[in-house]
Amino acid sequence: NRGDRKSIMSTKNIVIIGGGIIGLSIGWQLVKRNFSVTIFDKDSVGKGASWAAAGMLSPLAEVNMQEKDLLQLGLTSAELYPGWVDELEADSQMTVEFQTEGTLIVALDRDDDQELRHHFDLQKLFNLPVEWLDGRSARNIEPALSPRVVSAISCDSDLQVDNRLVIRALKHSFQKFGGNLHEHLGVDRIEISDGTAVGVWAGDNLVKADKIIVSAGCWSSLIEGIPGKLTVRPVKGQMLALQMEDPPIVRKVIHAPDAYLVPRRDGRLLIGATSEEQGFDTQITAGGIFELLRGAWETLPGIYDFPIIETWVGLRPGSRDNAPILGKTEVENLILATGHFRKGILLAPITAQEICALIMTDHTSDVIAPFTPARCAG
Ligand code: GLY
Repeated sequence: NRGDRKSIMSTKNIVIIGGGIIGLSIGWQLVKRNFSVTIFDKDSVGKGASWAAAGMLSPLAEVNMQEKDLLQLGLTSAELYPGWVDELEADSQMTVEFQTEGTLIVALDRDDDQELRHHFDLQKLFNLPVEWLDGRSARNIEPALSPRVVSAISCDSDLQVDNRLVIRALKHSFQKFGGNLHEHLGVDRIEISDGTAVGVWAGDNLVKADKIIVSAGCWSSLIEGIPGKLTVRPVKGQMLALQMEDPPIVRKVIHAPDAYLVPRRDGRLLIGATSEEQGFDTQITAGGIFELLRGAWETLPGIYDFPIIETWVGLRPGSRDNAPILGKTEVENLILATGHFRKGILLAPITAQEICALIMTDHTSDVIAPFTPARCAG
């Protein structure tokens, strides 16, 4: 309708609250379409969940019966990934270490094996390209796997990026195309006038905007002015990295019952992650690291002598149903793109594509319709 067209034509200034992988990906695409975009981040960009993540792009490995729409969103985003990485690497002239070696999900005893068979049946029900392996076949592929591994599922089409390199490349590309970045400057409140968002309060300054996008991860709920009761909670994940010897002990990502192991090209082996409902607590605990090391060592005994080179914590942004919250709110010109929980790195390309389309057409696509903020209201 004519009103919508007018509002699109006059959309020039866009403010994005939160410069994690989601905010930066949206901002990068919008500046390339000649919008004037300002990102505010209360910290340095990408230092929240985007920094802590392991960069696994595993729509197949992490599937569940209740999350059919989310599976589809993840599969679509994984399909976008190769082109998205090409574009990002070309714009930034930086590598993001995109890897296509796939994932092995392994079982270490009979209980795990039964659970894995159930998981495999589900993957087959969804027609996913996965293969069942016995323990010996799994060890043929990854010889360092423990003799205890009784069975495995091979998810060959799963992918991986180095999420920290992605952040670096996105920041560079966003600024290269003229994006404004304000780091260490958080937004406390959205200014609303007659049911329309008109700006944001950053420190003592009111910054006017035609559209405002909230992509502040688990801090999104702390921003005043978002209608309904937005619940995005922090779900703590502790992680660590070991230094592998050369040649690397594994090539594929390994999902074990109590840990996942992610080999990076630079020789690090990431081990993650705990999943703890501890609010905004970011302490690294002996128990957390112990459980991860035990889970990793039971799967890959050869890691025993590897040096520990880093430990860290991230806060995943979890919505009530753990699916992302994408689209318009009941406040005019206020859009949410948050709550990506365990899948923020995977879902960045599809989120950016669909939120840009929403800004340009004022239309909510079928792709994001199952994830609109309305389902989380009240
Ligand atoms: N996607 C892995 C994690 O959240 O731990």
